[in-house]
Amino acid sequence: MERKIDIWKFYSVTHGYHVVCNPTSIAKVDELIGLLRLSPGSAVLDIACGKGEMLTRLAERYEVSGVGVDISPYFVADTERKLRDRVPVAQIEILKMDGADYSADQFFDLAMCIGASWIYKGYRGTLRALKAMTKPDGLILVGEPFWLKGPDDAFLAAENYARDMFGTHYENVLVGQDEGLLPLYTIVSNQDDWDRYETLQWYAAEKYARDNPDDPDLSEILVRVARGRKNYLQWGRDTLSWAMYLFRKASHADQ
Ligand SMILES: C[S@@+](CC[C@H](N)C(=O)[O-])C[C@H]1O[C@@H](n2cnc3c(N)ncnc32)[C@H](O)[C@@H]1O
Repeated sequence: MERKIDIWKFYSVTHGYHVVCNPTSIAKVDELIGLLRLSPGSAVLDIACGKGEMLTRLAERYEVSGVGVDISPYFVADTERKLRDRVPVAQIEILKMDGADYSADQFFDLAMCIGASWIYKGYRGTLRALKAMTKPDGLILVGEPFWLKGPDDAFLAAENYARDMFGTHYENVLVGQDEGLLPLYTIVSNQDDWDRYETLQWYAAEKYARDNPDDPDLSEILVRVARGRKNYLQWGRDTLSWAMYLFRKASHADQ
């Protein structure tokens, strides 16, 4: 099917009911945020901040300042609204742009990119880019899929994935170490978390179809969601998982 729909509209529709736009449960997000133990005033960077839930929760808990970057006009508007409603005093700037073009004019205490490593041409590139924008002794948080088992060729073809696009969970930790980072923590999504992430997209699309029967993009939205559902149930559910990887950048003393 030839793509006609604005892809950012598609994601906005299919993620209409997601609090975070990745397969981590909110309970796990909160556990992770608790472990970060940021000092008030810490500077935080979120590349591909989605609907801004991480930034908002961090600002609520730690009074951080910082920068969020996302290319989607829908998600940027969601993030700005959320910050205004929940933490109006937070000094957090939201930039609507390609993350690859963002160039930091400061170093951050926490730099993250959760679920968008293509921005830096893969997981290793993402760790490198974030490392370059993080203070010595600062934290780096990346969310990334990993293979549970070797993928079927048919799954790779159906999703247009390459086998070397992802590593195993162990390899994802090793890549961080190889980049000179200290692994501090991982949060792995279980099947319940993944099912919630995937099936909320079906739910959101059906609700959108009921509420917007005349939208000319509707049939494409439903075809895409049906294809994603098939691929997930047939292959993805048993093949791919997801984790957030927390690392510490070495301090000057360690370098
Ligand atoms: C899987 S979602 C993750 C969102 C958010 N980090 C979260 O976990 O809720 C991927 C995000 O990447 C954003 N994105 C995709 N390509 C991008 C790019 N080139 N530059 C900046 N953001 C991008 C999308 O708009 C979307 O918000």
